[in-house]
Amino acid sequence: MVGKHGHQHHGKSSKDILSGDLVLEAANIKNGDKFLDAGCGDGHVSIDASYKVGKDGKVFAIDIYPDSIEILKNEIKNRNIKNIKPLVADITEELPLEDNSIDLALMANVLHGFVHSGEVDQMSNIVKVLKPGGIFAVAEFRKAESSRGPPIHIRISPEEVGDILKKYHFEVVDSYEIGEYHYIVRGLLNK
Ligand SMILES: C[S@@+](CC[C@H](N)C(=O)[O-])C[C@H]1O[C@@H](n2cnc3c(N)ncnc32)[C@H](O)[C@@H]1O
Repeated sequence: MVGKHGHQHHGKSSKDILSGDLVLEAANIKNGDKFLDAGCGDGHVSIDASYKVGKDGKVFAIDIYPDSIEILKNEIKNRNIKNIKPLVADITEELPLEDNSIDLALMANVLHGFVHSGEVDQMSNIVKVLKPGGIFAVAEFRKAESSRGPPIHIRISPEEVGDILKKYHFEVVDSYEIGEYHYIVRGLLNK
């Protein structure tokens, strides 16, 4: 599919290489959270998140690729999950969510694509829906040779992620390696 975005990885999923539990624990998800999975793909992390936020929480799973959202919808139905809202939307544009409503937003394996296609300055819509004091967690492939993941020249380092977060008034709270291939950087929103 060719769209206005140059690098989307439609239909890709990190399911077999990044454990949803691991990334969500590192992101420090809590029971009752309103959680945004931005660029959710097939939504395997959203499914794990739905159990962690519980019945008082809510998961908003957004992807631009309708086929991925269809896969997620089927999984939600099969598991009889009630607290995930799957949405087809472009996360670089105005989101179909209330302003200041999200406690924790995650972008897993998405940001390097935005950097590569020059869309990194379009994250203000995610900032808009996060609560003041909310957390933006970015999970990315480590910038080291590995058999899985995007080509090394388009991977981004934790420092680059931190610099992007700072541009959007996030304070970097922590950054560490998770699993075999990934790291996570968490930013706290001062707005
Ligand atoms: C490499 S996949 C990662 C999927 C999932 N986060 C995971 O880790 O399994 C990147 C995802 O970002 C989505 N994506 C790319 N650009 C997007 C945009 N502008 N708005 C919403 N989703 C986008 C793609 O459709 C794709 O599903």
